[in-house]
Amino acid sequence: MREIRFDRFGGPEVLTLHTDAPTPEPAADELLVQVAYAGLNPLDYKIRDGSSGRAQGLELPAGTGRELAGTVIGAGSGLDEAELGSRGLTPGTRVFGMRGPEDRRGVAAEVIAISVDDLAPIPGEIPDEDLPRWAGLALVGLTAIATVRDTAGIEQGETVLVHGGTGGVGQLLIPMALEAGASRVLATGRSANSARISELGATPIPYDTTDWTAEVQRLTDGHGVDVVLDTHYHSTFLPSLDQLAGGGRIVALPSLADLSPALERGIEARIPAIVPGRDRLDRLAQGIRAGRYPLEVSEVLPLGEIAEAHRRLEDGHTRGKLVLDVSA
Ligand SMILES: NC(=O)c1ccc[n+]([C@@H]2O[C@H](COP(=O)([O-])OP(=O)(O)OC[C@H]3O[C@@H](n4cnc5c(N)ncnc54)[C@H](OP(=O)(O)O)[C@@H]3O)[C@@H](O)[C@H]2O)c1
Repeated sequence: MREIRFDRFGGPEVLTLHTDAPTPEPAADELLVQVAYAGLNPLDYKIRDGSSGRAQGLELPAGTGRELAGTVIGAGSGLDEAELGSRGLTPGTRVFGMRGPEDRRGVAAEVIAISVDDLAPIPGEIPDEDLPRWAGLALVGLTAIATVRDTAGIEQGETVLVHGGTGGVGQLLIPMALEAGASRVLATGRSANSARISELGATPIPYDTTDWTAEVQRLTDGHGVDVVLDTHYHSTFLPSLDQLAGGGRIVALPSLADLSPALERGIEARIPAIVPGRDRLDRLAQGIRAGRYPLEVSEVLPLGEIAEAHRRLEDGHTRGKLVLDVSA
């Protein structure tokens, strides 16, 4: 079968398509899944270039990618028909999900073995054409839940500023912040993305054509916001500390973000951590199904173009999700 692997840390060129990979054997609690599409995330290139904490001690050669949509084609010895039936994951079921944080294997392969707990069924009425979106949903969705619910604890009537409102995570942070009770969400992005930010329910602040800090002050009558959800971090974290209302808090998404400038000023600052779980995947599925989480897929590239896909990801301006078509 075809699979993407890399045998050293480095640039996108280290990613290689192998056509003779062995089909994996599922462990007792794993399912065998025929992958249709794999979602891409900044974490993938941070592992590939060795800069992520998750690259430490990673055994090479390694696979790439964390999230997917596909079809169950087999199960490990610990999963009988009754167990699979009770989970709604019998062979032939279309599924989506992501590898748990401790599972270091990739998903950019035609067939993968993956823990049964890391998958959920895709509702039957979803057409196959919509599968790329489901492939790109799990990692950003679980991140958005961890950010809004577990970490920021947004309360009724609070004002929220999202940096990177049309990125993969940002497109879910906006609707989830509103769902959590935010009275108003402001979101930064390039001016080309302003219309999309409005569609998602936020007030756009184009950082490339305006001074976004002045805009935040203007839009909040000089009060600032209660919560900043910062998916960009590099040029946004420090100036955001001056945009917080009294008692305001900031959540930075990159796992290696330095929070000390906030903490030294007595500002609550945290980094979210994904909590896997079927209940959360089902919640995401319901949100997509009901149209509450209109996550966009901007590009679908064939498996063999993985290096080009990583280059585009690294540009840092992905709109919604980049997805690999594993069958192409
Ligand atoms: N802690 C965790 O568990 C966790 C989980 C998932 C992701 N993450 C991290 O979260 C970050 C975002 O992930 P993602 O998947 O959303 O990335 P992404 O899809 O690549 O989106 C990046 C976003 O950043 C925006 N951006 C770029 N420059 C900006 C600037 N100067 N000001 C404001 N926005 C700017 C882009 O918008 P424009 O195109 O409009 O510029 C784009 O919307 C990554 O660092 C990722 O590693 C952390």
